[in-house]
Amino acid sequence: MKRQHRILGALLASAALLLTACGTAAPSAPTAPAERRKIIIDTDTGADDASALILAAKSDQVDILGVTVLVGNVGLEQSAKNALMALEMAGSDAPVYLGASENSSGEAIDAFSVFGTDGMGDADLIHPTGTAAEEDAIDFILDTVAADPGEVELVALGPATNIAKAIERDPETMQKVKTIWSMGTAGLGPGNASPVAEFNVYGDPGAYAVMLDSGIDITVVGLDMCGGEAQWTDAQIERLEKAGDIGHFVAASFGKIREFYAVNGSAGSVMNCDALAMMCVLDPTFVRETIRCHGSCITEPGETYAQVLFYQEGFTYDVAANDGDHNVSLVSEVEKSSYFDRYLAAVK
Ligand code: BDR
Ligand code: CA
Repeated sequence: MKRQHRILGALLASAALLLTACGTAAPSAPTAPAERRKIIIDTDTGADDASALILAAKSDQVDILGVTVLVGNVGLEQSAKNALMALEMAGSDAPVYLGASENSSGEAIDAFSVFGTDGMGDADLIHPTGTAAEEDAIDFILDTVAADPGEVELVALGPATNIAKAIERDPETMQKVKTIWSMGTAGLGPGNASPVAEFNVYGDPGAYAVMLDSGIDITVVGLDMCGGEAQWTDAQIERLEKAGDIGHFVAASFGKIREFYAVNGSAGSVMNCDALAMMCVLDPTFVRETIRCHGSCITEPGETYAQVLFYQEGFTYDVAANDGDHNVSLVSEVEKSSYFDRYLAAVK
């Protein structure tokens, strides 16, 4: 601020104080309500995706223009049912569109061992009254972005198959996406599908590479953000279970993943990466640090299949895989210890 502006600011502040003290302060001008951001959520709806949909549906920061579903944790039809149910639980009538039923290599992946065969803990939770829309997910993404250039944010919670298809079908329109938020990659830590690969990328590394190379603004939330203090403990999930219908629904859907974690690394707590990524989208105070990087996805078969390497800005590497083209912002620190409480408060 220039010096004269500071002096003027101080004078105005003193005048306002004086008027307030005399009880004659001018009424402050009404502030226009902040406009809601417009998002499309792309999801392979398992329990953690469903909890993220609920978080977004309960937020006054965003309008969910639509939810596009695909194969991933579960098959396409189940993914749609789970998304419809989660939205209904949260009182949202956002439409659901069917996308990819297999990945770019023609394979149908799943995570039944983690989330159950219905993706929602096999707890008989899924009875949606609505059905998916007629329009295809890729058409919906392209039509919506074309109608509102520069305004629509994509939040990707599953493999990148739908997004890559949209980029390949109409790259020009996809350049008008405001930003893509991607829950995917191992970040700067270990993977879960392999020691170096994360499930969403592993589900379709070719699609993830297309997305990274698209030139669209991308923020990545990796697996490393969801571990440690960010994990939901048994005691926290019990609190969630007692927090009304939504809390009960989310807690019940996490039954299978709790069993899975009990024999796979961290008994007593589980990761919920999708809702954490959604929290980064909705609440900038949750994100402490991001790093500009060049993200490079390994698509060749072998032990490093589906690993995403992050070349960080400011480092001089001996291996130069890019020309300083930093195609992503990688979230490198979040307010992990407050994650569960923020979630609970937001969905109550
Ligand atoms: C990601 O993989 C899926 O199983 C979860 O829904 C989440 O999107 C975590 O690696
Ligand atoms: Ca997911």
